[in-house]
Amino acid sequence: MDRKTLERRGYSIGALRTLARRRLPRVVFDFCDGGAEDEQTLRDNERAFRELTLQPRVLRGVTRTAQSVELFGRPLRLPVLIGPTGASGMLWPKGEIAAARAAAAAGTVYTTSHGSTRTLEDIARAADGRTWFQVFLYRDQAITDDLIARARAAGYEALVVTVDNQVLGQRERDIVNGFTVPPRPGFRNVIDVAASVRWLWRMAGAPRPTMANYAPYFGESGTNIASLAATIAGMLDPTIGWDAIDRVRERWRGPMLLKGVLHPEDARLALRHGVDGLVVSNHGGRQLDGAPASIRALPAVLDAVDGRIPVLVDGGVRRGADVVKALALGATACLIARPHLWGLAVAGEEGVAHVLDVFRREIERVLWLGGWDDVASLGREALEIMPRTDLAAAAD
Ligand SMILES: Cc1cc2nc3c(=O)[nH]c(=O)nc-3n(C[C@H](O)[C@H](O)[C@H](O)COP(=O)(O)O)c2cc1C
Repeated sequence: MDRKTLERRGYSIGALRTLARRRLPRVVFDFCDGGAEDEQTLRDNERAFRELTLQPRVLRGVTRTAQSVELFGRPLRLPVLIGPTGASGMLWPKGEIAAARAAAAAGTVYTTSHGSTRTLEDIARAADGRTWFQVFLYRDQAITDDLIARARAAGYEALVVTVDNQVLGQRERDIVNGFTVPPRPGFRNVIDVAASVRWLWRMAGAPRPTMANYAPYFGESGTNIASLAATIAGMLDPTIGWDAIDRVRERWRGPMLLKGVLHPEDARLALRHGVDGLVVSNHGGRQLDGAPASIRALPAVLDAVDGRIPVLVDGGVRRGADVVKALALGATACLIARPHLWGLAVAGEEGVAHVLDVFRREIERVLWLGGWDDVASLGREALEIMPRTDLAAAAD
């Protein structure tokens, strides 16, 4: 899609989702778009942002709208980072490299997932920007340790340890669609995939996406996305406790973030275990269905942390206004996952760049309209006073 058409038809994140849905085979679109079980948390992530109301001011003589923030002592040009997503190379050839380049050009962070289809080393080399690496905690600690050592050697700035994933959520759209890689040749899948001609053509010319980071442990033939996902499910250890975080802490000297924290007591424990940052997250509603919307859980976590470490939030961030709301509550920045995947599916690197630009422009417009000159000075007064039950109490 050329730039002009991208601008016209991809005018918002929602519009880009519609474009992505038309371009991808259903089995691939649903793998990205779907959530766990009844998708209550998935829906609530977005709904909770809509239920927060901004409280604009007028005639404030605002002369600028600054949106850079500082994270771990370094500036980010916008308060939106790209969170980890496995298997992004199913949407666009070398999808992770395309996304990481777009993030670097926009002056923000790309987080490489453990399940990237290019190796973590390739992604770090290709993206001349700030990159973080995300790991899970495995029964076989040697694999987690090795991934951490590789991330350090490749120059990743921060390590994101995802802790809401020790048992895999049941994604029922994938069950219905018979999600496998490549898609299983059932009648519906053949028709569905054949209809996505452009995607098929593009992907046919690219190497088959695999979970490339795992080749040293399982061999090239063991990296098939669907079968390795099942293996990884068996490698996750639901019995682990905070000592696993201590272990990672000993091995990673740089900034270490925990992703998947929703409870203020867990935030306090994270501080005690030397964590440098939190991502308030329910994994985009893909894990525990019925967990609170991240933005509802955020205030209590922020109160518990009391400014000692940065707190990021993800899940349902679809508009610049959502970012402003999260920052007004006290988050340092937001992560996005699905929005960048929709951009990637529509136009590769340019599509992800466009997604980040949509956020940048929307944040700028919200700041002008709200009478705020800098995201750094946003506070809870930028939000309409909500009944306590809607905000902090829900997460207490
Ligand atoms: C297709 C897909 C793959 C994901 N893979 C990972 C992953 O490998 N590791 C991880 O910590 N989170 C993963 N997530 C969760 C995201 O990092 C993020 O927490 C969540 O999707 C944010 O919500 P949003 O998609 O509404 O922006 C994935 C999400 C999606 C949609």
